[in-house]
Formats: sequence, structure tokens, C-alpha cells
Amino acid sequence: MIPYKTLLHINRSSKQTLYIQLTNQFIDLIKSKKLPANTKLPSSRVLSDLIGVHRKTIVACYEELNLQGWVISIAKKGTYVNEDIPVLQQKWVENDLPKKAENSGFQFSKKSFLNRTFPQSFGKGYMYINDGVSDERLTPVNEIATLYRKISTKKHTTDFMGYGTTYGNIELREVLVDYLNETRGLNITIDNILITRGSQMGMFLASQLLFETTGYIIVGVTNYGSADSTFKYANGKLLRVNVDEHGLDTTEIEVLAKKYDIRAVYTTPHHHHPTTVTLSAQRRIHLLNLSKNYGFAILEDDYDYDFHYNHAPILPLASHDVNGNVIYVGSVCKTVAPVYRVGYLIAPKDFVDECAKLRRFVDRQGDAILELTFASFIKDGSLERHINKVSKIYKARRDFFCQLLKSELHEYLSFEIPKGGMAIWATLNKKYSWDTVAKIASKYKLIIPEWQRYDMAHVNHNAIRIGFARYNEEEAEDFVFRLKSAMFELP
Ligand SMILES: Cc1ncc(COP(=O)(O)O)c(C=O)c1O
Repeated sequence: MIPYKTLLHINRSSKQTLYIQLTNQFIDLIKSKKLPANTKLPSSRVLSDLIGVHRKTIVACYEELNLQGWVISIAKKGTYVNEDIPVLQQKWVENDLPKKAENSGFQFSKKSFLNRTFPQSFGKGYMYINDGVSDERLTPVNEIATLYRKISTKKHTTDFMGYGTTYGNIELREVLVDYLNETRGLNITIDNILITRGSQMGMFLASQLLFETTGYIIVGVTNYGSADSTFKYANGKLLRVNVDEHGLDTTEIEVLAKKYDIRAVYTTPHHHHPTTVTLSAQRRIHLLNLSKNYGFAILEDDYDYDFHYNHAPILPLASHDVNGNVIYVGSVCKTVAPVYRVGYLIAPKDFVDECAKLRRFVDRQGDAILELTFASFIKDGSLERHINKVSKIYKARRDFFCQLLKSELHEYLSFEIPKGGMAIWATLNKKYSWDTVAKIASKYKLIIPEWQRYDMAHVNHNAIRIGFARYNEEEAEDFVFRLKSAMFELP
């Protein structure tokens, strides 16, 4: 007789139910062949007496083993270890498994411009220059988790568990319509909004529809790299215009619009990415007029509308759009945290409808429970409270960081204090190169990733974007100390 009493251990203080504990232990015994194929298991009554658990627990355990295929129950005969156990066979096969091919044995298209890997971690003690991200420690994780849990367990949640609309949850759309009309003066209705998984998805969908097989899009000489790649992937041909202290040069846009069939202009008007400048009022009006006259779209990426420190926010171009030329994308990913993939695309109805159709083939639908969570988070004023709270902190961090950079590194770096956002645009004295700084900085465990290095692109400047919002004072000092140590070693 197999010594079941010794082999099976019941832990009554474990959170795992008794029958699951027993089931797992039986599976281990079968896998390790301590219970060989065709072994007859003791009856539920015998085993229950032997190990001192209720008979119903043994019955439930045997049923589970039977369902999973580890044992076979034969009426009036008993329960036997199955001789045909897939895992055991798999083990045997595993020993002889041929080495996996490194490359695929089929053709597919590869685009070098999509090559932008983002390491998960640089190792303990490393700091890296980020392009302006929020401080995850300030994220109201518990509040959001409580809402999510509450919504998940509500009775009516079953309504949202199945396949649903590709436009996004209706409650969130309604809440966002009110919120965006109120905070950004958009004057939209529910027909103008599609929920996305972030601004990036909005840009992807829009550009797939804007270019089809070809078409021109105007972007800044310096521009958000992922936007460039998104447009190229959609067959958009990029034309570049200069960016000065007033933002994109709209006179250059006009010259190009006369010459080319322009489908769109991409802009981050609140704080241009990467240079952080704000598009001036005159240029905003000029751009809107051009879009009407030449019939192109303005793809307005308002990625950090919520963070402005010197003045009230400037209303988006979308709020002045009366001719149906603006596609406006935004999200909570910068404002709350990138992990919450909730964003929106705002546009005229016909365009929204087409995006909703296309979205179905990229991502069948969003996470309705997360969307409902954010509907509630916005409706009860939590989002605005969060923005007010972190804005004050980021403003103080901006001031501290800029002051520190100025006092410690003025011989090497020059920059304007940004009016908003989460990053500064720092220009290195032309005697030096970021390449050399990056190499020396790695000795001090400070990584300057390539994607921050706008100096490496086609552009004639020597600047990079440095995010400050993530660092408290101690971390900012540490960061500047490492950068300074590297700069001091510059040849
Ligand atoms: C200018 C700009 N647009 C869009 C995005 C993407 O935002 P989301 O996380 O909402 O997709 C980013 C993210 O870094 C960004 O910097």
C-alpha cells in the first residue's frame, strides 16, 4: 500500500482550499511516478479516514484529477492513474527536442525605422535620461484600484464582459465629452469621440486613414520620433519645417502647401516635442487658416496639456476648429501613468466612424472595466484633484532642477525654463558632443539613451530632452552630480 498518510500533507492555515491542495499533491505524485500509471487510488471513504479530511473533499479532488485527465474513474471499479498522461510524454519528447531556429522560416517585412527598443531596466543604481515622464510614486494607484475592483464586482459588470463597441465605453465617452468641453473648450458631442489605448493608437489609426498608399505630412525639423515612424509606417512622406521660439514655422508650411499635396500637419502645440516651445497665437490661427484653404488635417497631439506652470493652459487648436480640419489626440497616460492605457481621438464624425471601423482590426475593443474606472475617476473630480496636486509638485521640481542645472552646469549647457510639461530642452556647448558625454556618463551609471539624442538625427543642433518631473530633490541632485562628473571629464 502506498503511504498516503506520509505523502499527503494538509495545511489548514493555507488560503488554498483543501481539495486543491490535495489535487496538486496527487499531480506531483503522478508526475514523479511515485504513483505509476494504472495505480488504483484508495476509495474516497478510505482516504478520508486515512488523512482525516471530509469525504466530500476527496470526491472533489478525484473529480478535479479526472477532469484534468490525470486519473480515470471507472464506475463500480474505482479511480486509476491514467496511463496516457500528456505531460509525461512531453517530458520524453523534450529530451530530444531539436534546437529552436533563431530566425523565422518565412518572409515578412522589416522596417528599420521601427527599431526603438525600450529596456525595462538598466540595472541597480543606474539612472537614465527620460524624455519627460510622470513620477509613478505620485500615481493614485489605490484609488484607481479600488474603483476598478468595485466596478469589476458590480452585478451589472456582466454587461461589459462580452464583445462590445469599438468606439469605447459609452459612459467614458459621455464623461470625456463633458470634461474635454469644459477643460479645453472643444464643443464636441459623443459622435466626435473614439476611446483609444493612448495617444499613440490615435496617431496610428489616423495616419493609416490619412495616407493610404502615399501622401505628404509636415512635421518639425525636430519632432517626436515615434510620430515620424508612425507616419512612415502608414506610407506618409515626411516634409520638415523649422521650429523656433514660436513653434512650427507656418510660413514654411504655406510654401510647402502650395507645392505639395499635403494631407496633414503634425503638431504638439502646447509644448512642442522635443523643444518644449509653445505655438504662438498668430501661428495657430495661420495654421488653422492654411488647413482650411489647402484642405489638410491638423493632427494635434496634446500630450501634456495638463501641466502648465506659468499661465493658464492655452486652448487647443481643436477648440477653434469650425471647418472640421483638426484631429485631436490625448490620453491619461502622461497625466496619471503610462500603464493606464486610456486615451481618445476627437475628430469630425465621419473620420471617427472610419477610425472605429479600423480599430476593430488592430484591437477588437478596449478594456471596458478600465474605461468605466476612468469614467468614475473623472466624474467625481479625482482626475482634476490629481492634476492640481502633481502640477504643484512638478512646478517645484522644474524650478529646483533648472536652478541646479544652471548653477552646476552653465558652462556646458544652456536651456530655457519650460513653461510646462515634464522636460527641458538642453543644448550642449558646441565644443562638446553628446556622444562623448554619453560614453563618460555611463561610468557614473547615468545612461543617455539614443532616443533622447536628437543631435544624432538629421538636425543641426546639439540638444537633448531631459525629463525632470520624475526626480525629487535628492534624486535631482544625484542626477546632476553624475552629469557634472561626466562633463568635468570632457576632453
Ligand atoms: C509627444 C508624445 N505623443 C504621444 C505619446 C504617446 O502617448 P500615450 O502613452 O498616450 O500613447 C508620447 C509618449 O511619450 C509623447 O511624448
